[in-house]
Amino acid sequence: ATERTLSIIKPDAVAKNVIGEIYSRFEKAGLSIVAAKMMHLTQEQAEGFYAEHKERPFFNDLVAFMTSGPVVVQALEGEGAVLKNRDLMGATNPKEAEAGTIRADFASSIDANAVHGSDSAASAEREIAYFFNDNEICPRG
Ligand code: CMP
Repeated sequence: ATERTLSIIKPDAVAKNVIGEIYSRFEKAGLSIVAAKMMHLTQEQAEGFYAEHKERPFFNDLVAFMTSGPVVVQALEGEGAVLKNRDLMGATNPKEAEAGTIRADFASSIDANAVHGSDSAASAEREIAYFFNDNEICPRG
């Protein structure tokens, strides 16, 4: 079914100037960008977005990294968008990511891992609503 997922191009990938290359991968895989914005997350925004990881040992490093520079946030729409985006991204740890995936090609560590993608349809709904109002989403139909 057609669904949506939330994607973030993280500060490391923005700094590497590969926003366009990553967008190309989404589009070539049949995903459409239906909402997008560039922003420099505040501490509060990053903590809120990653609230489910609050008790994890990597939480503070994660928030520090995600607020270290601008990110690009987008909603992707397409057939099986959540899984398709996860396949394009590859494993969370770039050392374990399959060749040809975004993380294998652009990421350098588990923190600086180039992209975030929703892990389920339920997370996608929450994460898209976290960054976009309904009137900022432009469905392609
Ligand atoms: P992301 O998909 O943005 O969701 C949480 C992030 O925490 C993850 O990508 C990684 O960049 C980061 N992270 C750091 N250490 C770990 C870990 N041990 N397990 C999972 N995520 C981690």
